[in-house]
Amino acid sequence: MTAVVHTRAELATARAALTGTVGVVMTMGALHSGHESLLRAAREQADHVLVTVFVNPLQFGPNEDFDRYPRTLDEDLEVCRRAGADLVFAPSVADMYPDGAPGVRLDPGRLGGELEGESRPGFFHGVLTVVLKLLQLTRADLAFFGEKDYQQLTLVRRMVRDLDVPVRVVGVPTVREPDGLALSSRNRYLSPAERVTARSLSAALHAGSLAASDGASAADVLVAANAVFGDRSDVELDYLVLTDPDLEPGPVTGPARLLVAARVGTTRLIDNMAIRLDPR
Ligand code: PAJ
Repeated sequence: MTAVVHTRAELATARAALTGTVGVVMTMGALHSGHESLLRAAREQADHVLVTVFVNPLQFGPNEDFDRYPRTLDEDLEVCRRAGADLVFAPSVADMYPDGAPGVRLDPGRLGGELEGESRPGFFHGVLTVVLKLLQLTRADLAFFGEKDYQQLTLVRRMVRDLDVPVRVVGVPTVREPDGLALSSRNRYLSPAERVTARSLSAALHAGSLAASDGASAADVLVAANAVFGDRSDVELDYLVLTDPDLEPGPVTGPARLLVAARVGTTRLIDNMAIRLDPR
């Protein structure tokens, strides 16, 4: 049985009735197989699964897609029921932010201003603020986040460590379409032609990964990945970077992460992959 609650008071009552460990899967809805994989991981690792569905205005810039972000609660509840979620919390903006946009927000630090944070100022302040609020409200023991949003996962781990938040963060591998495209709620914005073009992100990561497994240097991995974009005009590359797995600055050897962001038409897409550089 999946219970659905909409206010923090209802959540508190429903949460108090759960004994054993609680795993939370935080989402903005428009659920797809990527989210379902988080739900499965939570089902396996926690006694109870709690899903939050909330399109968080705090993490959208003024010219971003807050208004047109897909809202499909009925279908989402069906997905949660099928996945065996115990409780869904789908609050309104007024319930999450009763005094309006909060004056106090989490500072994501240096990493919060890089990569996604550079293109989307304030994004990670908004993400970490809502994630911490949802952790307080749900009092979850485990929290599941997708590697698809690798910088988000890294920053949530860091927040939990830096602020001693009593939760265990679990990263879940990216779920992809058969042609490699990472599943994303924003893929539905793509036209059929753009959907084909969107393959180039994962193709570039694969090219980089292949080069690395052939023993290429960090510079050559980037050359191989960049070559996939060549001089195509239908993708606007935002960044393609190779970093250490914790997104720390400095030279990269051994385990590494290749991250890409690009605009296809008006849709901004991100992807990333673990790679291994042979120390020389
Ligand atoms: P949303 O984009 O709905 O994603 C919810 C969770 O699903 C995130 O942890 C995300 O990394 C994961 N996810 C999305 N696509 C995935 C895929 N293809 N494979 C595996 N996991 C995937 O991320 C957010 O919402 C918000 O920023 C949120 C954390 C809910 C805060 O508002």
